[in-house]
Amino acid sequence: MNSLEIKYLFEPRGIAVVGASDKPGKIGGMILYNILHSGYRGRIYPVNPAGGEIGGLPVHRNLADIDGVIDVAIIAIPAKFVFPVVRQCADKGVKFLSVISSGFSEVGNLAEEQELTRYAKKHGMRVLGPNIFGHYSSSASLNATFGPRDIKPGNVAIITQSGALGVAMIGKTAIQNIGLSAIISVGNKADVDEADLLEYLIEHDETRSILMYIEGVQHGERLVEVLKRATRVKPVVVIKSGRSKRGAIAAASHTGSLAGSDEIFDAIMQQCGVLRSESIQEALDWCKFLSTTPLPTGRNTVIITNGGGVGVLATDACEKYQVKLYEDKAHLKSVFEDVTHGFGSTKNPIDLTGEATTQEYITALTSALEDEQIHAVISLYCELRNCPHDLRRTDRYDPTGLFGLSTGGQTDYFFTVRR
Ligand code: COA
Repeated sequence: MNSLEIKYLFEPRGIAVVGASDKPGKIGGMILYNILHSGYRGRIYPVNPAGGEIGGLPVHRNLADIDGVIDVAIIAIPAKFVFPVVRQCADKGVKFLSVISSGFSEVGNLAEEQELTRYAKKHGMRVLGPNIFGHYSSSASLNATFGPRDIKPGNVAIITQSGALGVAMIGKTAIQNIGLSAIISVGNKADVDEADLLEYLIEHDETRSILMYIEGVQHGERLVEVLKRATRVKPVVVIKSGRSKRGAIAAASHTGSLAGSDEIFDAIMQQCGVLRSESIQEALDWCKFLSTTPLPTGRNTVIITNGGGVGVLATDACEKYQVKLYEDKAHLKSVFEDVTHGFGSTKNPIDLTGEATTQEYITALTSALEDEQIHAVISLYCELRNCPHDLRRTDRYDPTGLFGLSTGGQTDYFFTVRR
């Protein structure tokens, strides 16, 4: 699928919601209200045999009654009624089916899932799902999910095989002020998979980093090919579950996925230039940082700290993760000697000592980031009596073109890069 075609999923001109309902708690109703609330500007067609009106929109008794283009049909009715609706979608020239309904391959009903997908593809339609919570697209201000109503628009795109985890990630991103450019639930991946979605996201200007939660891969060669292209353009972070034997069994019964060998997966991801994360929090931290920060222009990194111990810990971590610490002692001395106290050090890590003031931190950071030979700074701060709280306001460094990531707690850290 080329990115032109998949654009209709993310930027549809018209959407039908089959199974739209005004009864409280109904998934079809939740999706319709999320679409209405999100500010989507295309046409919205609720479909329910009862007719009437929902949310100020006329309800169509069936798809045939709709007079207008439908690029996406969201299907939220019990699995056994889905196929006849798919046939109606084919007659209407629908481009994408977003099949919310569970009850297919994940419960052993593979035959119906395959039959439905074959039929859809034969009639020019692509299938997202089944067994999904829907998708969100910031480009179209479209929240076509039954997850949280408010999704903060931004630059991180998420592709998730687990619906519940996807909904949890929407919550986590909202709390952590991470904006999303898209979130797509792929569920059983009967047809549309990660590779198809990456094709769009590679070229999607608003997406600056991509997070994928994967349980199993069906078309490995194609995924590798697309991932290699994607990581040349923007960072991709992958969480792959089913690493352990028991985890693999759990993945098989969740989305019918075959987890495969973890070692092989790991090696392939490395070849593709993908960052593999073990936890949701780590993946979100990376995506937040990578979506807002330019790549360093070189490898010379300097650690600035007020605590020797955390400086040593960071040095160990740099070696472990192959971060090159800048070593030109004479040059480091010339840059930092004015801000290091008698007990401090201008050797990398630069130790400003426990007596460091806010102003000294600012001077050290500014000197580092204005220096042509220093490309990145890892800044560490242990909570001490001088407590330069305003250091956490990393936006204050904007005039010099820096960005910082700061976590709460007793030790703050951030990583800055020269633009
Ligand atoms: N066309 C349009 N509407 C139809 C229809 C059709 N062919 N057939 C039924 N409907 C209507 C129903 O009349 C009902 O409307 P009402 O609420 O006004 O009575 C509505 O569609 C929903 O159908 P209903 O039979 O009440 O199903 P439901 O809402 O209880 O459940 C699903 C439907 C899809 C939510 C459910 O089958 C399901 O799969 N749930 C799991 C979803 C899930 O977890 N997905 C994965 C997330 S990660």
